[in-house]
Amino acid sequence: MGSTYILGIESSCDETAAAVVRSGEQIVSSIVASQIATHQPYGGVVPELASREHLRAIVPVVRQALAEAAKTYESIDGLAVTQGPGLAGALLVGISYSKALAFALDKPLIAVNHLEGHIHAVLLEEKQKGNRELRFPLLALVVSGGHTHLYLAEQRAEGWSYENIGHTRDDAAGEAFDKVAKLLGLGYPGGPVIDRLSKHGDPRAVKFPPSQIKHPDRRKVQKTFLSEKNRAKGAAEVTRQPAEHSAARASDRRFDFSYSGIKTAVLRYVETHHLAASIEARRRALASAAKPQLDDYLALSDRETLNLIASFQRAMVGDLVGKTLAAAREFDVATLFVTGGVAANQELRETFAREAAQEALPVFFPSRPLSTDNAAMIAAAAYPKFLAGQFAPMDFSAEAGLALK
Ligand code: KG4
Ligand code: ZN
Repeated sequence: MGSTYILGIESSCDETAAAVVRSGEQIVSSIVASQIATHQPYGGVVPELASREHLRAIVPVVRQALAEAAKTYESIDGLAVTQGPGLAGALLVGISYSKALAFALDKPLIAVNHLEGHIHAVLLEEKQKGNRELRFPLLALVVSGGHTHLYLAEQRAEGWSYENIGHTRDDAAGEAFDKVAKLLGLGYPGGPVIDRLSKHGDPRAVKFPPSQIKHPDRRKVQKTFLSEKNRAKGAAEVTRQPAEHSAARASDRRFDFSYSGIKTAVLRYVETHHLAASIEARRRALASAAKPQLDDYLALSDRETLNLIASFQRAMVGDLVGKTLAAAREFDVATLFVTGGVAANQELRETFAREAAQEALPVFFPSRPLSTDNAAMIAAAAYPKFLAGQFAPMDFSAEAGLALK
């Protein structure tokens, strides 16, 4: 079969993105229009504003992706769009536009789960580098503003399938970075700023207690396990996981995450150390700066604050790496993927690389531009579905809480 060019469209949160990817293995173009400037004054994503900005950006972003790929609407082979999870109104902009385009062009349309997109960002770049030798079982940590999820991923004849073995009980890791940054007057989004400032503080200065999961699950637990699905299909041959693993999955959720506690601990620290006034001064100064640079942040942050930031990041990284590697051992995985916005974090990458190497476990990350939201990952995840003829019906709609299976 010759080359297949898929136009991917992503609008699940605060990035409007379009990309052309060839045969799931080469990025021909990838355009991302960020809405950070729109949401910054509010310290977080405002759903109504996100939808409005997507409406404004989607046509020029798609045109630019086609132009940079030297493609026309007619010369692409199919379209792919994010169905969920994400903000319903934001998702609908991408979905309505993609449906209209697919209908007018008479091209197939593929609906993609955003989280599957993040996993395929890694696969796409590995294929692009010429690495086609992935070993299974494969564990993927998807760590972003909305998710902290562990998936066992399998490649089958009919495409990829996923089993969720751990997820956050409350805040996602990226959400914790964003909330702590907001709390410290560092603006939005918090992850990139905390990443850069952490290098200037002492990560051992503030001790945070290890995250404990005591409270019941605030988010809906995904109850469908691969083993059950296979039984339903009558596929008795899937015995990859020993029996005790199924028991471990169903009963204790050892690989769940919880980050609301550390956020509260930072708040307590701020209160007991009387940091409120200096935080307010920093917030005002940064809000009036056009485009604050690292030096501006540093000039506005005292040693105590930098130590707090570095210690917070160290605790987050320790928890993410510790739980993920424990899950990797439990399920005896051969490959680890770490992906999603927080995977852009330098300390997280370095710690994963170092600790996975000690266990001889190969770990792969997307490049930084492909860690955060983009449409190349959506077009790449769509390719196996394109080959399998898994096209979306014209009446499909956005699913804000879409689970990955
Ligand atoms: O994947 P993404 O672009 O959007 C979602 O699907 O959520 O992830 C965005 C999240 C934000 O919470 C942002 O603060 C975080 O990823 N993030 C980072 C870094 N870059 C982005 N967190 C830590 N360190 C970074 N360098
Ligand atoms: Zn994302």
